[in-house]
Order: sequence, then structure tokens, then C-alpha cells
Amino acid sequence: MCPSYACQIPLAPYTTFHIGGPAVYLMEAHTMEDVRSGVSEAHAAGLPLTILGGGSNVLIADEGMQGCVLIMRLKGVTMTPLSDTVRVTAAAGELLDDVVAQTVLAGYWGLENLSCIPGTVGAAPVQNVGAYGVEVGELIESVQAVHCDTGEVRTFTRSECQFAYRDSFFKSEPGRAWIITAVTFLLSATPKPRLAYAALATQFAEISPTIAVVRQAISDIRSGKFPDWTQVGTAGSFFKNPLITQAQYDALCTQYNDLPGFATDDGMVKVPLGWILDKVCGLRGYTKNGIACYEGQALVLTAVRGSSAAAVSTFADEVAERVREKTGIEIEWEVRRLS
Ligand code: EPU
Repeated sequence: MCPSYACQIPLAPYTTFHIGGPAVYLMEAHTMEDVRSGVSEAHAAGLPLTILGGGSNVLIADEGMQGCVLIMRLKGVTMTPLSDTVRVTAAAGELLDDVVAQTVLAGYWGLENLSCIPGTVGAAPVQNVGAYGVEVGELIESVQAVHCDTGEVRTFTRSECQFAYRDSFFKSEPGRAWIITAVTFLLSATPKPRLAYAALATQFAEISPTIAVVRQAISDIRSGKFPDWTQVGTAGSFFKNPLITQAQYDALCTQYNDLPGFATDDGMVKVPLGWILDKVCGLRGYTKNGIACYEGQALVLTAVRGSSAAAVSTFADEVAERVREKTGIEIEWEVRRLS
């Protein structure tokens, strides 16, 4: 029915959790022509189409996935120097960290705080990945995408991407119909260090680091907070940091007076769930049935090899219940659930 696709392929190896049953149909798209045929075959068969990049932010059901799964493997990076800036266009299947490494080597500022984030370029705008005071959306000039029903190719400007905290147009119902094929970043050819994140501010209080030194610092911070992805299943931060009202925050502070909180532009307060899981719920390092709140960062869930998606879900439900009991906060998954 879908000649470009292979049938009944286990998905676990395509994810950093190493979890997930088979895809009914799976193809790896290396060229735009592969993407076009993958899209049109799924459309003609009336099957849903899911795109996977690095599989680093998903939890795939043990039963696997219905319909077609297309693994994005488009490659290629171009850098065009302008006057003070440089335009960098990367194909969706490039690893984000490879692109970060190349721009750091070339001395183009902007992406260095996003060093060592797993996953692909194409996935980065979808959830507007962010770390150490920078969100990728701030650096994106445009996103190129193909519509999965019509095959239309379109360029979305940054404002059309509607970036917000771990959110974008591409996560919305109409946005999900677009397959990202390339991302264009606008970087700075002159030094623009972003050192507001506490650990960086302390380290660089006295010196102005080079871009390579910033990348190294980020890499060092991350290695303490994240498990070794080659040894253990994980999708990084499993939940979003919750946004609560000022009144809720004040009430919580009467009980937990050093609870950190960051005011957002719309009058809410973002609180670090890692802190709550650790200091309020005592869940840092908590392990059950091979699933754990990682010792180095409680917001990161890890799963030993051979774990099931059901076990991760059960564990996540238990964590959410503990947070609700202790704080009244309803937490949301950051990881995307696929079935
Ligand atoms: N904290 C604890 N105990 C813990 C974990 C954290 O006390 O077990 C405290 C930390 O000391 C800190 C605060 O909680 O004061 C926040 O922790 P951290 O700076 O490690 O970052 P985060 O808010 O938990 C977010 C992103 C990460 C990103 C980091 C660094 C989300 C959901 N997560 O984590 O992104 O790398 O900031 O900027 O926004 C991801 O999305 O997968 C991800 C890893």
C-alpha cells in the first residue's frame, strides 16, 4: 500500500528512551524526493503520518504506532555571512548539536548556550527548545516546511512560528500538518555572550569568555545534570516547568520560603519543577520498576533498558499525584506521547 515504507519496524531504537513498539509503516527520508513520496503515499492511503527526528522528546506506546512514520534524515548546512550577522540554514535531519558545533567553530554567536542538546534541527522549533537562558526561537529567522496533505512548500517567518515556552505553531492542530524540512538561523558575527543563567554568571563574573569556552562550560554543566544517553533511556526534562499565579506562588512560599520563581511577561510565575520534585516531594533519585527521577536532576526521568512505556506513564502519574498532593499544582508532560 505504501511502497516506499518498510513494514512493522520496531521504534525503540529510534528513540532516546529506547521504548516503543513497531511502526506499521516506516521510512527514512534522505532527500526531498523521499519526503514528497512519503507524504503522498501516506495521504493516498488515508493514513496518519508522524515525523520523527532524533526521537529524543517522545514516549512511544508499547503497542507501537498506527499509520506511517517518517524518520527525517535531510542533511546540509549553509552559512552566508551578511554584515554583522550570518544566516545559517540547516536541513531538518541535521543533529542540532552538530550545527551548534559548526557555528561555534566559525565564531558565530547565538546557538552556543544550546550546546549538547540531543535531537535534530527540525525538531528544535516545534517545542522551541531552550537551555541556559536561550530559546532557539529567538535565533530563528524562518522555518521551511511541507504540508503533509497538499505537498505545498512554505516558509514561515519567526512571528508566524508563534514561539512561546516549549511551544510553537508547529505543536498546534493546524501546525502539526506541516513537516519542517529546514531551519534558518540568524546569528551574530560579533561576540554576544548570554551569561545571565546563574551558573554561567558566577563562572564568568570576572572574564569575557570566548565562544568555545561558553560551549565547554555548557557541556560541563549538562554532564552533571543529565545521564549518559548511551547507557540509560531518557528524554531529558520529562515535564514542563509549571506556570502558576502570583497568589499561588505567594501561598507556596509561606511553606517553602526559598522556592525559586521567575515572573513571566503575562504576570504568571514559572517555578522550577526540579526543585519541587527534589526539595518538596523528596523524589530526587526515587526509583520504581526501573524508572527514576534522575539523581543529578529530578526533572529528568530515566528508564533502564527493557522498560515499557506503560511503566514510564505509571511512574509519571505517580510523580504528578505527589506534586498535586503537596502543592496543588497540575503538571504537564513536556515529552510528546505517541501511539
Ligand atoms: N533543582 C533542584 N533539584 C533538582 C533539580 C533542579 O533543586 O533535582 C533546582 C536547580 O537548582 C535550579 C532549578 O531547580 O535552581 C532549575 O533547575 P535547572 O536549572 O537544572 O533547569 P530546569 O528548569 O529544571 C530547564 C529546561 C531544560 C534545560 C535547563 C537549563 C524545561 C522543562 N527544562 O530545566 O531543558 O536544559 O532548564 O536551562 O524547561 C529539556 O527540555 O528536555 C531540557 C533538558
